[in-house]
Amino acid sequence: MKYASSRLASVKPSASAWVSQAAKLAKAAGEDIIDLGLGEPDFDTPPHIIEAAYEAGKAGETRYPPTDGTGDLKQAIIEKFKRDNHLDYEPSQIIISNGAKQVIFNALMASLELDDEVLLCAPYFGQYKDMVLILGGVPVTIQCGAETHFRLDAASLEKAITPKTRWLFLNLPSNPAGAVYTEDDLRAIGDVLERNPHVLVLSDEIYEHILFDGEKFWSFAEICPALKERTLTVNGVSKAYAMTGWRIGYAGGPKELIAAMTKVQSQISSGACSIAQAAAVAALNGPQDEVHRFCAAFQSRRDLVYDRILKIDNLTLDPPAGAFYAYIGCTDLIGSKTPDGAVIEDDAAFTNFLLQDAGIACVPGSAYELSPFFRISTAASEAVLTEALDRIEASVAKLKLGN
Ligand SMILES: Cc1ncc(COP(=O)(O)O)c(C=O)c1O
Repeated sequence: MKYASSRLASVKPSASAWVSQAAKLAKAAGEDIIDLGLGEPDFDTPPHIIEAAYEAGKAGETRYPPTDGTGDLKQAIIEKFKRDNHLDYEPSQIIISNGAKQVIFNALMASLELDDEVLLCAPYFGQYKDMVLILGGVPVTIQCGAETHFRLDAASLEKAITPKTRWLFLNLPSNPAGAVYTEDDLRAIGDVLERNPHVLVLSDEIYEHILFDGEKFWSFAEICPALKERTLTVNGVSKAYAMTGWRIGYAGGPKELIAAMTKVQSQISSGACSIAQAAAVAALNGPQDEVHRFCAAFQSRRDLVYDRILKIDNLTLDPPAGAFYAYIGCTDLIGSKTPDGAVIEDDAAFTNFLLQDAGIACVPGSAYELSPFFRISTAASEAVLTEALDRIEASVAKLKLGN
């Protein structure tokens, strides 16, 4: 019996989830594994947010919420967009879903025709591509390498746009490379898009609050107001507030698109969990000191990882300016040999070697469509990161370069 539809044939499970699952199984079997695969903060949700959820439950907020989100959370999101991004939205321009992932899926489901193209800036969050494939679209990768600090440049965008382009996806700051765009970068992208009125923009800003070295965050629609009516600004509470398990993501965008996304969501999941929405209100409206504390911790971990990688021969790292990953280059190790004589053919072979030799679980660059790199999550304590980097250094030293 064949169960899966042909639409699913080209879709892969999430690489980071797969790596973490493999790490969990190896750990359960007694192996000494450090899992740097999954992208989630290692902090606990701040207590005032948990308290708000408890209070909501006691107050009877336990029934089906409106499909597009509760009035209270919509209002908190409207205020957040105004306060942080100088963007004005009305309640009809906001949707709340089960995580930013569902927001993105809804948007594609609501808008893609068969064979519509979606421009993705590699290295990119792998699930963008799989969602496009599930829905019959065509993911088009634009390579944005270390020479542009993993940022999309206007000329590459111009070249990639065709009459079939439906969406451009941006991720500010980006997973996995931590790329942060300047105002000028965004304006240059906006100029190209103004000449291409058939293209919509999805700006995934879920790592907005995790920025280093005093960088300022720019939301795409804030910098390109002429494109606001074509932009879906996606955000969520998972990363900034250590709320990955609560599953609340949201977006602001054109009213008609939001209505179409709400229609999709009404057929799939209805409104997101009422208690989690109450918790998200407390996250957005409440004190933000924990967000700053998390960010400071991610910055000192970024510093630690950057300093160590610079000292390891044959690895390279463009210092991430945001998010909580390091996207490490391993070009010089491709073609090298392990002590057993196996050839490191690509970054997947390298991450496999790290898992076997060092007990380090991390994700190969091929999962993000830009090789040869590997991503480690820096959402781990400095002690764990130090131990992981010691092990990576020792394993890299075992590889024989050349013939
Ligand atoms: C770029 C990016 N967008 C969206 C998500 C998903 O966020 P959520 O937990 O809100 O579904 C992630 C999670 O890893 C991500 O890295």
